[in-house]
Amino acid sequence: MLLNGSLASDCALAADALASGHLVAIPTETVYGLAADAGSDAAVAQIFTAKGRPSDHPLIVHVANQADVPYFASAVPEFAKVLMQRFWPGPLTLILPRRPGVAMAAAGGQNSVGLRSPSHPVAQALLKACAERGVVGLAAPSANLFGRISPTLAAHVQADFGSDLLVLDGGPCQVGIESTIVDCTRGGPVLLRPGQITAQAIEAATGLRVRRPGEPLQFDLASTLEIAPTDPSSVQSAPKASGTLEAHYAPRARVHLCDAPDLVANAAKALLVVGPGKVGVYSQQVLPIEGLIWRPMPANASACAHQLFAQLREFDDQHVEVILVEAPAADQEWEGVRDRLQRAAASA
Ligand code: TXA
Ligand code: MG
Repeated sequence: MLLNGSLASDCALAADALASGHLVAIPTETVYGLAADAGSDAAVAQIFTAKGRPSDHPLIVHVANQADVPYFASAVPEFAKVLMQRFWPGPLTLILPRRPGVAMAAAGGQNSVGLRSPSHPVAQALLKACAERGVVGLAAPSANLFGRISPTLAAHVQADFGSDLLVLDGGPCQVGIESTIVDCTRGGPVLLRPGQITAQAIEAATGLRVRRPGEPLQFDLASTLEIAPTDPSSVQSAPKASGTLEAHYAPRARVHLCDAPDLVANAAKALLVVGPGKVGVYSQQVLPIEGLIWRPMPANASACAHQLFAQLREFDDQHVEVILVEAPAADQEWEGVRDRLQRAAASA
C-alpha cells in the first residue's frame, strides 16, 4: 500500500506498523530502505526473509541524529564525531563498535554496527514518530530483492515487493546511489563503499588519510577500536558489506563498460549480435545509431548518480539484452557511480 497523503498521518501510520513489528519501505535521500524496528530481532528477521538476503549480512541502522549514537555504539572515535558533525544528517554510514545487547540481528551478529542519520524530511519525520513510540532506530537495507538494483522511486519498491508492503512515498531519491560507508573501528577512516561523499571530502573534514579495505593499516594502534569478531572464521568468509560483493546492483540485461573511443564500434557489434531494439547505450557521447536505445548520461557525477538506477531499470523495462555504458571519468567525484557500474558489469 502506498502512503502518499499528509506527512503527519502517513508517518503516524508507518510508525505504528514499525512499533508493532511490521516492515515499512521508507524514502531516504540515497535510495528507499526496507525498514524494521532495529530493537526487535524478530522484526529484523523479516527483512532478511523478504529480501532473500543471508542473515549474516549486517544492515544499516538509521537514527534521527547524533544523540542516538551512544545507544547503539559503545565507543566513538574523535574523527567519527567530526564526520557526524560535518555530514549528518546525510548520505554517510559509519561503522562503530556495537554496544553489547543492542541491535544484534540488525548487525548480522557482528560486534560492530552501521549507523546513519538520513536527511530526507520524510525519514526524519518518521524517526521522530518512531521515537514517540519507543523505537530508537530503524534497521533498513535498500528496499530491493537481494542482488538487484536499489530503488530510487516508490514504484521501484512495489515492482520488487508487490503492493501489500507499506511504502511511504517520498518522491524520487535525490542522491540516487547508496551512502558512503566508512569503517571507524580501525583507528582511522577506511572506505568500505564509495558514495556521494568522497574520500577527498572525508580527508578534508578529518585531516586523516582515507584507507581502502585491502590497504595495510598504519593508523595509531592506541586509537584503534578494533573489535574481536564473534566467530573469526565466519566473519572472514562472510562479506562484511554486501555492497562489496562483486556481482551486485545488476539489471537483468548484461552490462558492459566501454571506454569512449570504443563505444561506436562496440555498439555496432552488439547490434549485429543481438539485433535492433535489444541494445541499450548510456553515454555522454551522442550515439544516434538506428536500432540502438540511446540515453544521454549527464556530464555531472551527482546528476548521473541521481538517475543511474532508474535508467538501468528503464533499460530492463524495454527488454534490452545488452547495456553498453560509457566508462565515466577516473576522478573521485565519479567513484560512487563507477563502483556501481563495475558491480553491474561484473555479473555480465
Ligand atoms: O544509502 C544507504 O546506505 C541505503 C539507505 C536505505 O540508507 N542502505 C543500504 O543498505 O544501502 P544495504 O543493506 O543495501 O547496504 C548496507 C551496507 C551493506 O553492504 C552492509 O554489509 C554494510 O552496509 N554494513 C552494515 N553494517 C555493517 C557493519 N557492522 N560492518 C560492516 N558493514 C556493514
Ligand atoms: Mg543494497
